[in-house]
Amino acid sequence: MCGIVGYIGKRNPKDIIYEGLKKLEYRGYDSAGIALFQEGKIKIKRSQGKLSQLQKEMADPHFFATPHHEIFLALGHTRWATQGRPSEKNAHPHQAGSVVLVHNGIIENFSSIKETLLKKGHTFASDTDSEVIASLINDHIREGHDFETSVQRAAQQLVGSFSVGVMFEGDPGTLIAVRNGTPLVLGVCESENFIASDIAALLSHTHRFVYLEDQEMAVLKKGQWVVKNLNGKPISKAIKEINWTQEMIEKGGFQHFMLKEIFEQPQAVIHTLQDRVRKDEQGLLFPEVSKLLKELNPLGRIYLVACGSAYYASMVGKYLFEQFSHVPCEQDLASEFRYREPLIGKNDLLIVTSQSGETADTLAALREAKKRGAKVLAICNVKESSIDREADVTVYTYAGPEIGVASTKAFTAQLTVFGLLAIHVGMVKGVLSEQAAFDFIQELIRLPLAMENLLKQDAYIKKIAQKFYRKKTFLYLGRGTNYPIALEGALKLKEISYMNAEGYAAGEMKHGPIALVDEDTPVIILAPQDRHYEKVLSNLEEIKARDGVVIAIGNEGDERLKKLSDYMIEIPKRSELCTPILEAIPVQLIAYDIALKKGTDIDQPRNLAKSVTVE
Ligand code: F6R
Repeated sequence: MCGIVGYIGKRNPKDIIYEGLKKLEYRGYDSAGIALFQEGKIKIKRSQGKLSQLQKEMADPHFFATPHHEIFLALGHTRWATQGRPSEKNAHPHQAGSVVLVHNGIIENFSSIKETLLKKGHTFASDTDSEVIASLINDHIREGHDFETSVQRAAQQLVGSFSVGVMFEGDPGTLIAVRNGTPLVLGVCESENFIASDIAALLSHTHRFVYLEDQEMAVLKKGQWVVKNLNGKPISKAIKEINWTQEMIEKGGFQHFMLKEIFEQPQAVIHTLQDRVRKDEQGLLFPEVSKLLKELNPLGRIYLVACGSAYYASMVGKYLFEQFSHVPCEQDLASEFRYREPLIGKNDLLIVTSQSGETADTLAALREAKKRGAKVLAICNVKESSIDREADVTVYTYAGPEIGVASTKAFTAQLTVFGLLAIHVGMVKGVLSEQAAFDFIQELIRLPLAMENLLKQDAYIKKIAQKFYRKKTFLYLGRGTNYPIALEGALKLKEISYMNAEGYAAGEMKHGPIALVDEDTPVIILAPQDRHYEKVLSNLEEIKARDGVVIAIGNEGDERLKKLSDYMIEIPKRSELCTPILEAIPVQLIAYDIALKKGTDIDQPRNLAKSVTVE
C-alpha cells in the first residue's frame, strides 16, 4: 500500500526523499508528497498522480531545505488511496498546526476521534483518516505535552493499522516513527538515519536495518536512534544486515521491471533450489521442516492459505502434496480463512505463501492458525518481513526483490518450493520412493535450462499479442495442476492489460463458460500430455466446433494439438511437478506483450499496489 520514507542527517534531503519514493512507488502511486524544514518552518509539496508530478512541484526554487544545527529532516509519501479519493488535498504529508505526518494503513476509529476534535475546534482540510492522526497529536501538544509524549498518547488512542512518520516545527531535530500493523523499518548509518516502508527505498544508503514491531516507536535525533514501546520504555533492538543490492532493484536495460523479472526466473529457481538439494542429489535438505513434522507427529492436515498469485501457487501445492506426500490438504483464500471458523488444530500445519511477507489477510490468517494451536510454515521472499518473523519456520523463495506489481518470478519460485516440499514430505512419510524422489530432483535441477529456452519464444508470443490485443475477453482453461496456471494467466492479463479474462477448470467448461466462446473470444488452453490430455483435447474440439480461436500451450512435438489449435506455444514435456512452472512463462509473456501493445502502465497498473498491507 502507501510508501513512507523519512530522513535525518547532514545531507540535503530533497533528492534522498524523492529517490526513496521512486523505489517505493510500486506500493501506491495515485498521489505523492514531501515535507522538509525550511528556515525553521515545515514546507510541504504534494500532487495528485505519479511521482513525476511531484517532481515538477519540487522544482520550485522557493522550495528548499535548510538545516537546524547542521541537521536536515524530511518526510515523503506515495499514496494508494483508502480513505478519501486520490487528490492533492488528500495526498500526504498532512499538517495539523505545526505537526506534519505521513501514514500508511487504515484508522478504524477515525470518525469518533474526528468528531471529538471538531468539537474542540480543530478543522480538517482533507477527507482522510490520516489527517486525524496529525490533528490528534497536535491536540496533545496544545494540551502541553512534549512531541514524543503527544505521539505516544495519540498512538494509544488509535484503532487500526498504521505506520507513521511525524515531524514537529517545535522540535526540528527530532523525527518520530510508529508502527502498528503495517511495515516500517529504520535504516541506520553512522551519521544519518532513515525510516521507510521497506528496505528497497534505502539500499543505496545502507544495508543495516532495524525492524519495528507493532506498538513500537522510533525516535531519531542527530546521529542517534532509540526504539521504545508506546509507554516510552526503551526496547533493545538488533540491527539486521540485508544483502540485497541496489542493482537488484533496477531495471537493468529492460523496458519494464515485469519483463526483467520474467527473464530472471531461471535464476530465481536456481537460487531457490540451492542449498536444498543434497550433494548426491538423492534427497533434500529441509532440517527445519523435518523438525516441524516431528513436532506435529502425526501430521493432520495441511492448510494452504494465501492471496492472489500466491494463492494460485498454493493451489498447485495442494495437488502436489496430495499426490507426492499423501497428506490431506485444504486450501483457502486468506481473506476467507481468517473469518470462517477454520477447524485447524494442533496437529495441523498452515502453509502461508507470500512474496512480500506483509499481506494483511495472510498475516491475519497466520495469527488465527497460531491462536488455534497449529504450526505455521511460511513460503516467503522477503526476509525479516512480518510473516517471516511470525511463522514457526520459513522456507525462502530466493527470487530477489520483485518490483513489478504483477508477480512473476516470485510465483515460479513459490511453485519450486512447493515441488521441493512435496518431495521432502513424501520422503519423510515414506510414501515417495527414493527412485521417484531422485527422478523428480533431477527434473528440478534441469528446470532452469528449460526455462531459459522457453523464454526464447518471446518473439512468437509477441505475434500472438499483435493478433489478439484488441479482443475484449479471453478464456483460460486447464485441468489438474494446469488449472491454477489458467487462473494465474487470467489474473496476469486482467491486472496489466485491464481486459476481461476468465480462468476455468477445463472440466467446468460445459457448465457455463462455453457460452463465452465465439470467434471473438480467444481461448488459451493448457494441454500438456499428462493424464488429463485426452479430456482437454475434447474440450478443445468443442471450442473449435463453436468457431472459437484456440491458443494452445502444449508439449513440443505434439502434432495432434498443433493441428487442432490456431496457435501453439511449445513447452518441453515434464511431470506435473515442473510443468506448471514452465507454463507460467508463456502466460506471463502473453499478458506482458498484450499490455505492451495496449500501452498500459505495466509495472504500476491502475488501482493496484504491490503490497496489500490493509484488509
Ligand atoms: C498478482 C499479484 C497479487 C499478489 C497478492 C499476494 O500478480 O501480485 O495477486 O500475489 O497480492 O501478495 P503477497 O505474495 O505479497 O502476499
